[in-house]
Amino acid sequence: MCGIIGYIGKRNVSRIIIESLERLEYRGYDSAGLATLDGNDLYLCREVGSLENLKAVLKDYPMKGSLGIGHTRWATHGEPVRVNAHPHVDCSESIAVVHNGIIENYLELKEKLQSSGHIFKSETDSEVIAHLVEDYLKNGAANLEQAVFCTLMDIQGAYALAVMRKQEPRKLIAARNGSPLIVGIGEGETFIASDAPAIIPYTRKVVFLDDYQVVVVEDDILTISNINGTPVNYNISTVDWDVNAAQKNGYPHFMLKEIHEQPQIVKSILAEKIDFRNLDLKVEELLKIKSRILQAHQVIIQACGTSFHAGMVGELALEYFTNLHADVEISSEFRYKHFIAEPGSLIISITQSGETADTLVALKKAKQKGLSTFSLCNVVGSSITRESDSVFYIHAGPEIGVASTKAYTAQLFCLYIIAVYLGVLKKNIKPELKNNLVKELTLIPALMKKVLGVEQQIAHCADKYAAFDDFYYLGRGVNYPSALEGALKLKEIAYIHASAYPAGEMKHGPIALVNPNLAAVCIAPRSATYDKMLSNIQEIKARKGKVIAIATEGDEQIGRFVDDVIYIPDIQEIFSPLLVALPLQLLAYYIAVKRGCNVDKPKNLAKSVTVE
Ligand code: M6R
Repeated sequence: MCGIIGYIGKRNVSRIIIESLERLEYRGYDSAGLATLDGNDLYLCREVGSLENLKAVLKDYPMKGSLGIGHTRWATHGEPVRVNAHPHVDCSESIAVVHNGIIENYLELKEKLQSSGHIFKSETDSEVIAHLVEDYLKNGAANLEQAVFCTLMDIQGAYALAVMRKQEPRKLIAARNGSPLIVGIGEGETFIASDAPAIIPYTRKVVFLDDYQVVVVEDDILTISNINGTPVNYNISTVDWDVNAAQKNGYPHFMLKEIHEQPQIVKSILAEKIDFRNLDLKVEELLKIKSRILQAHQVIIQACGTSFHAGMVGELALEYFTNLHADVEISSEFRYKHFIAEPGSLIISITQSGETADTLVALKKAKQKGLSTFSLCNVVGSSITRESDSVFYIHAGPEIGVASTKAYTAQLFCLYIIAVYLGVLKKNIKPELKNNLVKELTLIPALMKKVLGVEQQIAHCADKYAAFDDFYYLGRGVNYPSALEGALKLKEIAYIHASAYPAGEMKHGPIALVNPNLAAVCIAPRSATYDKMLSNIQEIKARKGKVIAIATEGDEQIGRFVDDVIYIPDIQEIFSPLLVALPLQLLAYYIAVKRGCNVDKPKNLAKSVTVE
């Protein structure tokens, strides 16, 4: 939650901060602000709402300076009003701070600081940082870094923060614990940012900070230390994401662009993971833990939100292809659960961002219990990747739309590859079957393109149902997770109530709510339970509910029972979620657009959930 940026160099900082905040805005958009230093003058500007509001103010009052910090907020402590917007300053307004995370002991610290005369202006937890730094400087700290080091000893909780002080106008300090932070190294300039896409137009050389590391940049001299002040060695990595990947490239929204990127992403995963000469799978990431996998009898998958839905499909695919016992857990529950795992079990953490706090903590817990840790992640160098024994990167490129789309299908596709690979390794899949499965996987990009070809029909269907306020999403087997994911998309971006059920559960309660004003999206591709699904559809129609079916091309009969049909190409049932996902994403997208919603920045949400 929240995005932070810092810059020290020679260019006009306010432009760089605003441009970077545009790329970070998906992390929160309750308010935005920046502080700059020009000589010993500190300038501060903060506005409620999206970055556009801040930009409008800066148009008339551009800010000077070549050192500064910026913030885009997803409110945790204190409403989204200007006084709670970052940067926060101390009493003398000479120290400015931006912070992402939660300072858990802020109330206690605040009371102490107030009793020694500090005046607080906001309700945030973050403001204590500025006052603590001020207090240490007042009480003998020799300079800003000394005061920041002392402050870090006092605060508990998660933080990625950046601090500057007008009396030390060529110094920028940042620190990380539990919230993501990177350092970008340019020519005579240094950046601090919550993630790499924020700064890739300026530099691709980055240092991924570890927890409890502190960065001090004075002019262009960079020092990274641990929290005790001992300098540490660091590696500079090169980020290979395309700058265009973080642009809309002519699409009205990132979400629509990302939906359309899916065939290409799957194609690149295939190119990396399949040896087309002999149809073998190449999964080096698993080779690293091969001996442990061969002994494992159990796989636990853990994730949140959309990644959890991918994990649900992964569980079914793993059991289907490997005969291993697989379980899937929601990270926020799993982290507190007393779980029993057989020795040598494997835990797969799925996460787009690699920074989801619940997933990270659950992974650490599994590690302590001696499980082999394997992660499926999109963001290179993120916290979860650094905690894992081995990482399988889904290489979906930056996903900017808050509602996950391309990361979901990339996760699914990688999970199928892993399941088939493990099936072969465990000798559960014979070579001929493996060849057929791999061949079918190679067809997916073309089939996805075909689904995207019916976009206009889906847009018309969306127009028809955009005024409905209640939706059911029903599916069976491997498409029950698809139903959950479809409903989540609609809730997230169109703010419509949508519940998902395994279709067989309808008669146990949910059918009570069926009426002419309820629309049910019924996922009914060719499958072992197709006939059952057809009965469920008829039960809804008998109660006058509206039905939009997702069915397999060539299925003529379904049209007789439903109001609308969206066809997907024929594919074997186990792989069908890969195709089903696309019309569900497009339906939610066009309904949201029709209702005038801000698709890329849905209210109350943030892309990366780095708080509990
Ligand atoms: O980055 P992660 O995959 O760990 O994120 C998990 C969820 O927060 C995420 O999938 C969320 O549910 C999205 N908004 C879904 O569109």
